[in-house]
Amino acid sequence: MRILVGRGWWRGRAITAWVSGAACRMLPWPLPALSRGAAAHSGALERRYSSAERKEKVDMSRFPFENISNFSIVAHVDHSKSTLADRLLELTGTIGKTNNNKQVLDKLQVERERGITVKAQTASLFCNCEGSQYFLHLIDTPGHVDFSYEVSRSLSACQGVLLVVDANEGIQAQTVANFFLTFEAQLSAIPVINKIDLKNADPKRVEKQIEKVFDIPSDECIKISAKLGTNIESVLQAIIERIPPPKVHRKNPLRALVFDSTFDQYRGVITNVALFDGVVSKGDRVVSAHTQKTYEVNEVGVLNPNELPTHKLYAGQVGYLIAGMKDVTEAQVGDTLYLHKQPVEPLPGFKSAKPMVFAGMYPVDQSEYNSLKSAIEKLTLNDSSVTVHRDSSLALGAGWRLGFLGLLHMEVFNQRLEQEYNASVILTTPTVPYKAVLSSAKLIKEYREKEITIINPAQFPDKSKVTEYLEPVVLGTVITPDEYTGKIMMLCQARRAIQKNMVFIDQNRVMLKYLFPLNEIVVDFYDSLKSLSSGYASFDYEDAGYQTAELVKMDILLNGNIVEELVTIVHKDKAHSVGKAICERLKDSLPRQLFEIAIQAAIGSKIIARETVKAYRKNVLAKCYGGDITRKMKLLKRQAEGKKKMRKIGNVEVPKDAFIKVLKTQSDK
Ligand code: GTP
Repeated sequence: MRILVGRGWWRGRAITAWVSGAACRMLPWPLPALSRGAAAHSGALERRYSSAERKEKVDMSRFPFENISNFSIVAHVDHSKSTLADRLLELTGTIGKTNNNKQVLDKLQVERERGITVKAQTASLFCNCEGSQYFLHLIDTPGHVDFSYEVSRSLSACQGVLLVVDANEGIQAQTVANFFLTFEAQLSAIPVINKIDLKNADPKRVEKQIEKVFDIPSDECIKISAKLGTNIESVLQAIIERIPPPKVHRKNPLRALVFDSTFDQYRGVITNVALFDGVVSKGDRVVSAHTQKTYEVNEVGVLNPNELPTHKLYAGQVGYLIAGMKDVTEAQVGDTLYLHKQPVEPLPGFKSAKPMVFAGMYPVDQSEYNSLKSAIEKLTLNDSSVTVHRDSSLALGAGWRLGFLGLLHMEVFNQRLEQEYNASVILTTPTVPYKAVLSSAKLIKEYREKEITIINPAQFPDKSKVTEYLEPVVLGTVITPDEYTGKIMMLCQARRAIQKNMVFIDQNRVMLKYLFPLNEIVVDFYDSLKSLSSGYASFDYEDAGYQTAELVKMDILLNGNIVEELVTIVHKDKAHSVGKAICERLKDSLPRQLFEIAIQAAIGSKIIARETVKAYRKNVLAKCYGGDITRKMKLLKRQAEGKKKMRKIGNVEVPKDAFIKVLKTQSDK
């Protein structure tokens, strides 16, 4: 089979890349209309093309649905999804081949800085196989468990995946999780064993693991080096041959699934759509099934990987659509768009993401409330897994309680707010969503339900009003070389986990399954696991419901007065160690005052930990007698200014940033 994989500009020449089996050769090519579009994009990722700049639009009717492959690249963290995407973009002439193409689809500053993908990115590739033109749509997904919602949403626009496994590390926890996501979605999986160039690569061993754990015959595995570009042609060939075309109907009325959105300051909301039925073009009037609002389509196109306007988009194709949605609340991920004159049954959309941790978010200065509100709205449009509820606190003012899929997700969201919207925020101690089954008739009436979810520790109901408390649990998967199994089992036990399963996936690798209380793994479990396994063990988890737990609310007191921001829900057995740690950190953050300050952790009326901030020995003003009146005035003025920045809890004056320091150290832990 001979595949024309791409046309574009390379080193100033128009080129065409052909693949014949494993051989690929570049030929000069006089560019037709389509190729000129692709050529204009090659090697110019950073440039944005507006419709005005691009006179010639791509005719997407050239690609019947039989010639379309929509696929995601899924893998464990760092197994090289983005690098493989680079090579596929190069091979199809979508971008020019240079040594600088390093994870080109990771466009966000936070992704570049952290070297991880946090946002699924899409790119459309054109190629020619035995005289037929193909339209391939690739989605590069994140690997970390906190961003698995990005993966599951991406799969809704695909018929297959490239399941990439590192030839040195073998199957890891997220490989298993991603395979089962793919399996549940009934998509074809093409196993790709990558990094075969590494000295310790053992592709044979990984082939056997894939066969044992996923029941995929080893001869279906494709062995590559994404870094060196070895055997990428076979991957492209397999995409065309093994991933089935989308099952769609072009003659039916339009049904387009919105699977992602971004906000552009000038053009409003840009939606990423997968067309399940029909056709859409500029000028069509479309309706949002979610809001029932009607819009005129201003532009449609594909991401190549930048926006490339097209005449139309047809069923089976994935692209973008701009329809004058100016308000972020109008654009819902999971929404269905249909033609104004041809209403249809909406597509099922997505299961909403289930937040694993909640934290309060407040503007550093209350005058910035409105700008922070707008920034959060715009960012949640691009990250629909974040949930937002309004909240307020005596010390921190008006703010929100946000739900995240994990702590890394929380950190990345915070960093994106700072980097992309110049917003600076205060984050409170993260907590997992506990539940309480109420016994008090008064409370049941107030909440209008018997079982309530507590996402703000300040609202934890007293034990006398509750039948039982429940804590969220997750089913965790650990994959490790067997020499670390003993230590890992002890760690899991210390985290109150219950072992569910243990299997060898090859001669010296073990897969362990444990039921963990979520709050025991959410902060530092992963770090502990990595450090005791010298970095070799991997971890992933999935939601497993709730279990009964002996929970207590722990207050922090300053000279007997409760500090609202530091109220924490803890398991009874861990209360002492957590309380002691908070008291110690608060002691370091409080300035000395004219009297002694008692910092206490308490459960109800019982004090479980205490620290003391000693008083100043002398009054600093006492020395300023007689003629030293100027110095006395200066000191009084400075004290008065300082007081403005203080929050008074009882008689104790607390600098506003004291809590922030305590909370920050807690979440940094
Ligand atoms: P996340 O999105 O963060 O999960 O990462 P990823 O799966 O997209 O991995 P990425 O492509 O960022 O690659 C991770 C690291 O592996 C980078 O340092 C790459 O340079 C390196 N790498 C990728 N492919 C190969 C390969 O074939 N051989 C070798 N030796 N290194 C590779």
